[in-house]
Amino acid sequence: MDLGLAGRRIAVTAGSRGLGFATAQALASDGARVLIAARDSARLDAAVSLLGSDACGISLDLADRGAPERLAEDVVSRWGGLDGLVVNVGGPAPGRTLDYTDDAWDAAIEGVLLGSVRTLRALVPVLAPGAAILIILSTTVREPIPGLGASNVLRPGLAMLVKELSRDLAPDIRVNGILPGRIATQRILDLDGPDPAARRAQESMIPLGRYGAPEEFGRVAAFLVSPAASYVTGILVPVDGGILHSPW
Ligand SMILES: NC(=O)c1ccc[n+]([C@@H]2O[C@H](COP(=O)([O-])OP(=O)(O)OC[C@H]3O[C@@H](n4cnc5c(N)ncnc54)[C@H](OP(=O)(O)O)[C@@H]3O)[C@@H](O)[C@H]2O)c1
Repeated sequence: MDLGLAGRRIAVTAGSRGLGFATAQALASDGARVLIAARDSARLDAAVSLLGSDACGISLDLADRGAPERLAEDVVSRWGGLDGLVVNVGGPAPGRTLDYTDDAWDAAIEGVLLGSVRTLRALVPVLAPGAAILIILSTTVREPIPGLGASNVLRPGLAMLVKELSRDLAPDIRVNGILPGRIATQRILDLDGPDPAARRAQESMIPLGRYGAPEEFGRVAAFLVSPAASYVTGILVPVDGGILHSPW
């Protein structure tokens, strides 16, 4: 199937590794021009070179209030606008909800909630008609994960934002969310820690019996951003090996 991505201009925030990078790779391999943003410029440059000659990068910290505007200015000066936006942020620190200090809540709210909202506020105005937005969320939108309190509390709000924006920006712009379960990225390896028993315990709860590969996530994400998904908006798509218990 041709996803219709050739030549489309797509920005992916937090895109130098993990889920963001896997999404950028899937988009680029189908012919999209991809701009990725992340903090570490050496890792960013390495990621851009893997994505090919039509890719570019910008070093910024999404926790910095001015970063989304800088990204929007960069997009306009490079390409004039965007046909797709993948909103991804660094994951919040783990912890039990009532154990987070106010400083830890501030960091999680700035990074996950406001980082996403500010990115959307700055970049929606540069989206061309027919563009698509995809927000990378988590299965915590539907079921809490023990030990990921900030994600459990904040991500359901962003899921509602997907629904709100899908109506506000229709019919010109589609807006969807994607819910990774346990995809084998550096963040998940860090959350599991060094004891292999931790991963085995997690995998035993997944109907498909294993963690997802980043490429398996990237393919679904690229489809949702592509013109091939032209009649899909306002939904949340789990990529979780079946771990969620409810069908909705
Ligand atoms: N992997 C999963 O299965 C899974 C499941 C549910 C939810 N999620 C969520 O999905 C998101 C991505 O997770 P991941 O597993 O791909 O993580 P990852 O492997 O740690 O990759 C994180 C990416 O985000 C960038 N980043 C982090 N903080 C940033 C900031 N403040 N500003 C700009 N870029 C930043 C990192 O680059 P720099 O460090 O260079 O900035 C890197 O490119 C996270 O929010 C995570 O909580 C992941």
